[in-house]
Amino acid sequence: MEKHDLGISMKDLSEGQPIAGSIDGRELVVLLHGGRVYALDRLCTHESGDLSQGYIDGEELICPLHSGAFYLEGGMANEDTPWVTSLNSFTVEADPESGNLFVYF
Ligand code: FES
Repeated sequence: MEKHDLGISMKDLSEGQPIAGSIDGRELVVLLHGGRVYALDRLCTHESGDLSQGYIDGEELICPLHSGAFYLEGGMANEDTPWVTSLNSFTVEADPESGNLFVYF
């Protein structure tokens, strides 16, 4: 696994507001929830809805197209929305001084 600079800083994030990120052709959605940063695949596993345009409901990220639901922790699909399968989830680390975010994959 390698460490990749997301090009996003903690100061770019607002609680509960997903944003898009991209590294080496890999599209990610990055969000701050409950003081913790999550990074998941950006494109929904159903019909490629852009999850950076989605919203948070409890501990889940909801797809803007057909409401597929994914757990923030681990990216697993919610069994109540069986038309989606799980997303890849990535470990995120913030540089303690700069706040710059890094992911591992
Ligand atoms: S594209 Fe996400 S639920 Fe259909």
